[in-house]
Amino acid sequence: MDIFEKFLVDKGPLGKLSSIYEEGYFMFPKLEGEIAPRMQFKGREVLTWSLNNYLGLANHPEVRKVDADAARDWGLGYPMGARMMSGNTSKHEEFEEQMADFIKKESVMLLNFGYQGILSIIDAVTGRKDVIVYDSESHACIIDGVRLHMGKRFVYPHNDIENLEKQLKRATKLADENGGGVLVITEGVFGMSGNMGKLKEVIALKEKFQFRLLVDDAHGFGTMGATGAGTGEELGVQDGIDLYFATFAKSMASIGAIIGGDVDVIDYLKHNMRSQIFAKSLPMPLVIGGMKRLELLKNNPGMKDNLWKVVNALQSGLREKGFNIGTTQSPVTPVIMSGGLNDGTGLIKDLRENYNIFCSGVVYPVVPKGVIMLRLIPTAVHTLEDVAETIAAFEAVKDKLLSGEYRKEGVALVNE
Ligand SMILES: Cc1ncc(COP(=O)(O)O)c(C=O)c1O
Repeated sequence: MDIFEKFLVDKGPLGKLSSIYEEGYFMFPKLEGEIAPRMQFKGREVLTWSLNNYLGLANHPEVRKVDADAARDWGLGYPMGARMMSGNTSKHEEFEEQMADFIKKESVMLLNFGYQGILSIIDAVTGRKDVIVYDSESHACIIDGVRLHMGKRFVYPHNDIENLEKQLKRATKLADENGGGVLVITEGVFGMSGNMGKLKEVIALKEKFQFRLLVDDAHGFGTMGATGAGTGEELGVQDGIDLYFATFAKSMASIGAIIGGDVDVIDYLKHNMRSQIFAKSLPMPLVIGGMKRLELLKNNPGMKDNLWKVVNALQSGLREKGFNIGTTQSPVTPVIMSGGLNDGTGLIKDLRENYNIFCSGVVYPVVPKGVIMLRLIPTAVHTLEDVAETIAAFEAVKDKLLSGEYRKEGVALVNE
């Protein structure tokens, strides 16, 4: 049988949706123009709430200039080869030192990508005898890292510390029998719910159990903590995080990531992380551009203040109008409504077409049947007028949703 043959029958869990959720509209939509709160979608200006450009750095004039100058001076090729072989530079090391200083870890290693980074960290840290314990709401890259693990793993329900303790008991017993150790993995800020990981409570369990903690702080870096150094700083527990991870894909508005920890541990990772050893080094413009972003993040706290002004206005405004935004403790703002597939698609389309609001929406099967979840990502460059306009639009579409309008006029895409 041709290995590709099955694709004709089964397009995969998300591929299957492409026939339902219009390609180019719900899936793979194209937002055009400069990255800003107002962009173009299908030729119309839309107020955009779906970019993780938390601090507004993506289109910051100084960032754009440094990126462009670095691309002119170095090209995207330099340095060639993996860091270990021929792709190391003093700039890569300088950036790592700056990052280590900022996140208050002894040492930091630059990673080419967040996703592969996490996957490969988990792979490098754990062996067959070790046991992983992880939060059930973990990002796909953590799940995939866990899938690579040859040993046992236990999952605990999202942020359920009582259950985590149970899993730690099982994990410790097994690890002791095997002569292995235990790695706990959670997130600083969970990207869908906006909940913070219960890092304090997790770390407190170190008094009862022996384990090391890896925290993926993709959404917390730059947005949380007094200096923006992330959720560990916010909760005053950075020291209890043994491996602190952040990607540049969100607040830093770039590509790349970091992993920070004790010198010995990071040194081990430098020599054992397969995604770094066997992959080309991060291009110079991303390193130089990264340093510029870090400098702005450290020296312009006004960006984070603006972000939170917008976050607070949006979240309190939505709550006042009776919207359910779950239990978020971060800029990530889910708006949870009830309705079927047609309700959900109709509502999102109405928001885009008639209210010029572009946000991401998640419907079944990503969330349970009957749930419509819209996800808003406020940024430092949104304004309070943007917030007011959005809340007014949400009120209007909620009324239509409740009156069943999208059932009648919504895009009748599927039989529910
Ligand atoms: C929690 C989390 N971890 C890791 C990643 C992957 O990072 P990257 O986009 O740098 O590959 C993401 C998404 O970007 C994320 O949301």
